[in-house]
Amino acid sequence: MTSPHPPAARRPVGPAYDGWLPGIDRISFGGDYNPEQWPEELWEEDVALMHDAGVNLVSVGIFSWALIEPREGEFEFGWLDRLLDLLHAHGIHVALGTPTASPPAWFFHTYPDARVVTADGTTLGFGSRGMVSPSSPAYRRAATRIATALAERYGDHPALALWHVHNEYGAPVSADHSPASARAFRAWLAERYGSLDELNAAWGTRFWGQVYGEWEHVGVPAATPSVANPAQKLDFARFTNDALLACFVAERDAIREHSSVPVTTNFMAGECPSTDLWAWAREVDVVSNDHYLTASDPRNHVGLALAADLTRSVAGGKPWLLLEHSTSGVNWQPRNVAKRPGEMARNSLSHLARGADAVMFFQWRASRSGAEKFHSAMLPHAGTTSRVWREVVELGATVEALQEVRGSRVHADVAILWDPESFWAQDLEWRPSVDVRHRERVDAFYDRFWRDGVTVDFAHPEQDLSGYRLVVAPASYLLTATSAANLTSFVEHGGTLLVSYFSGVVDANDAVHAGGFGAPLRTVLGARVDEFCPLREGDVQHVSLDGSVFPGSGSVVADVWADDLAVDGAQVVGTYTDGPVAGGPAITRNRFGAGTGWYLSTRLDIDALGTVLDPVYADAGIARSGLPDELEVVHRRNDDVEYLIAINHADQEHRLTVLGTDVVNGERADGAAEVAAGAVRVFRVDG
Ligand code: GAL
Repeated sequence: MTSPHPPAARRPVGPAYDGWLPGIDRISFGGDYNPEQWPEELWEEDVALMHDAGVNLVSVGIFSWALIEPREGEFEFGWLDRLLDLLHAHGIHVALGTPTASPPAWFFHTYPDARVVTADGTTLGFGSRGMVSPSSPAYRRAATRIATALAERYGDHPALALWHVHNEYGAPVSADHSPASARAFRAWLAERYGSLDELNAAWGTRFWGQVYGEWEHVGVPAATPSVANPAQKLDFARFTNDALLACFVAERDAIREHSSVPVTTNFMAGECPSTDLWAWAREVDVVSNDHYLTASDPRNHVGLALAADLTRSVAGGKPWLLLEHSTSGVNWQPRNVAKRPGEMARNSLSHLARGADAVMFFQWRASRSGAEKFHSAMLPHAGTTSRVWREVVELGATVEALQEVRGSRVHADVAILWDPESFWAQDLEWRPSVDVRHRERVDAFYDRFWRDGVTVDFAHPEQDLSGYRLVVAPASYLLTATSAANLTSFVEHGGTLLVSYFSGVVDANDAVHAGGFGAPLRTVLGARVDEFCPLREGDVQHVSLDGSVFPGSGSVVADVWADDLAVDGAQVVGTYTDGPVAGGPAITRNRFGAGTGWYLSTRLDIDALGTVLDPVYADAGIARSGLPDELEVVHRRNDDVEYLIAINHADQEHRLTVLGTDVVNGERADGAAEVAAGAVRVFRVDG
């Protein structure tokens, strides 16, 4: 794409902060360290073993509110003082947690109204974690007080490299239906809409007679006899995100009064549907993420790659930190599959390949008690004779050898749109088909690109897209007119856009766009959706492909969905030969301005997507990598050096074309290199 930048102000992406953690000039390696669970005599052994493993950063204090403030307003810092001093004495940096994800028993006893209430009216009790209402004024006061106390005491401690606020906002519960939440929701709505008339219009309350005459009558969308108002639910999702984010901002600002050390909070990119990470990334100093594999998925390394790419994308491409993943099995999935030899290193280095400058784990030493005693750790119950420990030590040495990669960036020519509002809206009830799921299409397109060796970013539909050659809208159900104009401008200026079915259907209020389904994308696609024609469960249909566009491809099988599509300028390149709209257009291509808008009106599996992507890649000027199956290759670059990271997920050795030097062992590759089964290699590419 060789165009001038499209017009219009765009959403900013990523944190403002572009620096690095004070005192740490390394790729960070370490994990959550919870020494309060152990006798103090063991701490010396811990730091000695950390030294052996190459640990240089640990996250401490994340769940220690009850110990730091055993009674309201009374702080006991002794153990934490000794811990930070000990770590500092051994050259280990600290990410200091604010323990606000787990308020103590006294807090819930004194402030019972701060407990979370679920949609069906159940009040969640004490004895776990994360069960506090983000809208409770008592919680906000208490959280700010302890964040302030910690910042006053440790704000300039020499061990401190990072503030780790809270833990995984939005988990395990996010939406709260308590009276405190209902009050805060009303205030949020009054701010957003200004008047009840505006709110009634936005929520379409004339339907089913829901018109509100008093603010006091507006509530959180609790259990209802039939489906609740979708616009109300969408606003409640926005409010929930904002309420959580306000908690973070309050703690961050309290910390900043006393400390200039960067502040983060650990995201769960791709896994926590209640947070809009584009918004969160603008508030943190550095983006950080936690990731855990889905044990039941044999290709879960693809999901890992997606999460890492999403994290880098919300960070605007800036350095990000992997604050948690697991050395082996977790303990909350139905079958907690242990990682096989080498898998932990592949996982860690895939995150690193995709832009992480920290490789950290939950947790340092396996807990003997409590809910997570079966979760793996860097130092497992089996101790230092175990395979896991040996692999941790090896990985620490590898990470140390890769220091020069730190700070380099990943470049992508392709972006998949990722908009939490579209998720929130699309996942509500009473959609045309339960088989249409936003995430399913995101995963399908992502997997296709992964197999093709094409690195992707995720992009917000309102951000500047001019750096991409190809943008994919994967069932982007909620798409504002502003977003659609942004996509149109992207194509006009030379970009290639691929739009899936069920995109551009509703506006920000979950109301069908004036002019019909997909109306704001009609110009760029040169086509119009007249009717949705979802298929019965298990039914398939066939799409015959135009041989001049897909040479030798014949036809592909499709399922789930068809549109009754009317063409208005687009070229029909695929036609339904059967199914609900037999004879109608299925796939269209529209030349628009200097670019091209593609529309795919049905669901294709990964293989069929591969066929259809051939001419899309050609339009965008993108080439497949041509790499062998299951060999993951990602590039990181800085101003003058390029690194190639190759991760072999296959059971057999693979050969790679490369001219360069292995960063870990110094070996030369003069044209080709072997990557052993299950191994990872990192090359500094010549020139
Ligand atoms: C994370 C959480 C950690 C630990 C870990 C392993 O989601 O932040 O505290 O629970 O999972 O289960």
